Amino acid sequence: MTKKILLSGIQPSGKPHIGNYFGAMKQFVDLQDQYESYVFIADYHALHSLRNAKEMRENIIGVMLDYLAIGLDPEKVTIFKQSDVSEHTELCWIFDTITTMPYLMRAHAFKDAEAKNKEIDVGTFNYPVLMAADILLYSPDIVPVGQDQQQHVEIARDIALKFNNTYGDTFKIPEHKIIKNVAVVPGVDGRKMSKSYKNTIPLFADYEEIKKCVMSIVTDSSGELPINVYSIHKLFRDEKELEKIYEEKKGKYKELKELLLEDIEKFIAPLRERRKEFEKDKSKVLEILKKGAEKAKNISSKKMDLVRERIGVKLD
Ligand code: ADP
Ligand code: TRP
Repeated sequence: MTKKILLSGIQPSGKPHIGNYFGAMKQFVDLQDQYESYVFIADYHALHSLRNAKEMRENIIGVMLDYLAIGLDPEKVTIFKQSDVSEHTELCWIFDTITTMPYLMRAHAFKDAEAKNKEIDVGTFNYPVLMAADILLYSPDIVPVGQDQQQHVEIARDIALKFNNTYGDTFKIPEHKIIKNVAVVPGVDGRKMSKSYKNTIPLFADYEEIKKCVMSIVTDSSGELPINVYSIHKLFRDEKELEKIYEEKKGKYKELKELLLEDIEKFIAPLRERRKEFEKDKSKVLEILKKGAEKAKNISSKKMDLVRERIGVKLD
């Protein structure tokens, strides 16, 4: 029986945090045996927020090390970067011609930028269309992401349907895969954990850094459950056990935070060590990316050939 297909990616826009891990990246690892998997680095997507070549290079290698450290196996998973496979941007253009401006104006990312009175570049506006191309080239059955990306996967579905209706059946309609209780991991201030809110606990932080983050978790002084501490803690320890501990230590916020710190450290320490090991061999990392790009290109170029035929620009 052929395996179902999984595709997902993250942007090399900064250090990943535990929200990225539990919301998305962990699924890539957990599902790598079950699915034929394509996991990529969305470097062209990151251009809208990162305009520094040195930082971009470092972050790309950084995401690769992160992927390997959390346990993605390049023998099982095709790992590549978006900019190595030009079919992504090519298909994006074709999708642009069937996607309307009013439709894209309903996207959250655009609305957020507009609400902040930001000057919005065309790339940011068009972001969901490039993401649709990323997804649809590989005919995935599932796209594991956190809650904030659900709308983008829905846009990819709509674009696939529009293309299929216009030019004939070409794209498989993908489903997003969101794990309910980790769909929105909260940050140290209780809002969604996000690089842009500076409220994260980095996935590969050292002990002192984790300590600083944990101690800064916002608690109220009502003596009830410190919900922000608890919500993060339940990612690292069984909830039944946790309920008991939080009952016993009611109101003792400092002790609860210290326990959370130990639990996070226990989880992160081995990841940090693995990452350091991979860091020693950069040429191996580059080799994995090269091989991954070849495999990805092989799939995506076939799809693009079909697309060119469907739209009528292929003449032979
Ligand atoms: P950020 O908001 O920190 O910039 P990204 O947009 O780079 O994060 O997200 C990368 C992946 O991690 C996406 O699939 C996204 O849905 C997921 N993700 C990001 N933040 C969280 C969170 N707080 N909880 C759950 N998943 C998240
Ligand atoms: N937009 C996603 C994010 O910010 C990254 C991404 C780009 C992606 N293309 C994708 C995720 C395709 C899944 C599938 O996290």
